[in-house]
Formats: sequence, C-alpha cells, structure tokens
Amino acid sequence: MRPKFVAGNWKMHTTAATARQLASAVVRGLGADGRVVVAVCPPFPYLALVGDVLRGSSVALGAQNLYPEEEGAFTGEVNPAMLVDVGCKYVILGHSERRRKPELAETDAFINRKVHAALAAGLHAILCLGETLEERKSGQTEAVLKAQLAGSLAGLDPAHMARVVLAYEPVWAIGTGHSATLEQAQQVHAFLRRWIREIFGEETAAAIVIQDGGSVNPDNAGALLRQPDVDGALIGGASLNAEQFLAILRAALS
Ligand code: PGA
Repeated sequence: MRPKFVAGNWKMHTTAATARQLASAVVRGLGADGRVVVAVCPPFPYLALVGDVLRGSSVALGAQNLYPEEEGAFTGEVNPAMLVDVGCKYVILGHSERRRKPELAETDAFINRKVHAALAAGLHAILCLGETLEERKSGQTEAVLKAQLAGSLAGLDPAHMARVVLAYEPVWAIGTGHSATLEQAQQVHAFLRRWIREIFGEETAAAIVIQDGGSVNPDNAGALLRQPDVDGALIGGASLNAEQFLAILRAALS
C-alpha cells in the first residue's frame, strides 16, 4: 500500500511572518497524525525558519529548486547540500513554471542533472511533469510525458527511484481552477506507472508515489485521491491557507 503524500508548494509567496504562521498552523492542525506524508516547500529565504517551526513534527521540509553543482562561482544559486543543511528532505524539480517560462526554459537534460544532484545529496526529488492544453488537444499528452520522463529520469536505476516522487501537473490545470477530471487524472497516472514499470520494473512501479497537481482544493481532493493511481497531491494556491491545506490532508485520509 503506497502512503498518500501531500506537499504544499508555496511558490514565491509568504513573508517571514506569514511563513512562520502558516507552518505553525499546519503542524498544530496535523498533530501526530502520521497516516499521510506531508511536506511544505517555502521559498529559499524562509527554509531555515520554517524548518525550525517543523522540528519535531511529522511535517517535512522541501525546497522548490536547486542548482546541480556542488559549489563554486554560481552567483544566486543554491546547491543540494545547502538544502540538506537547512533540513530539507524534498526538492521540487521540473515544475512547469520553470520549464515553460521563456526566461527560465529548463530542459529535460538540465532537470535530469538536478535530479541526479538531489539524489546524490540524499534528497527526495518531486519531479513535475505535464502537458499544455494545446498538447492535450492535439493528442500528444502521452508523447510529451514520455519525453519528459525519459529525459528527466535518464541514468537512474531502481535504487535511485526509491527517492523519486512524480507529480503530474497538467499546465492547463495549474492556478486556473480547472483541475483534471478524475478520469483524466487516473488515465495519465496509470500511463506514468506503466512507463515506470517498463523502464524500472514492477517493484519500482508498485512503490512509486505519483501526486496529482493543478487546482487541487478541499472540494476535489477527496475523489481525486481515491483514484487507484493517484497517491497524493502537490498543492499550490490552497497550500497558502492552513485551513484549506489541512482540509486536503483530511480528504487524503477519507
Ligand atoms: P495550484 O498549483 O494548486 O495553485 O494550481 C499547483 C502547482 O503548481 O504546484
């Protein structure tokens, strides 16, 4: 049985004060309930202070990005060891906001370097994948996802995959209020798991956690998380409100 894993992606939101409040409210609201795996991913400057709030709780800390080098002259970048140093367990990689923004334009090859760097440092990678509306409409969803999987996971073996989580986030669902339907989500999640089975084998496919993301909220989370291949959720907007985030965590248990 795969555990449900719900992570909050705070993106470029919060202040020091609201980050602390939000993290405290999640810790208080969740209590000692360890049935759902929970992480929050604040912006870099607040990782340490949120880490302090989470210490001793069942909520894990995650970052939203890293740079795939050990150290050196990389002005403005953050290496995986720094994330481990401030208490991160997870790092979100390959988010569509980094893949698709022309100024960032992250490629699968670059994301692949990041995945390797994260795993080498002992982090768990939450690898985001997803197609645009045009890609879906023109019947390319599986081809796009296949290319993202093959590119981002190149050179990994089943042992590495034990620390990889997939997050299926169709670009058209992120921040739009239009989440994938239950059928769309289940169909794609099953496809992703089949691909993982082909490449990494049955054991990895059975164990890998595949989150869903894109406008997941307290109203749609329960039914979505009951789909057989939906093992959790990556939450953007709704993770900035403790009540909503906690309601999603409760829905994950229903
Ligand atoms: P959303 O974002 O929940 O605000 O749609 C999800 C994400 O981008 O991770």
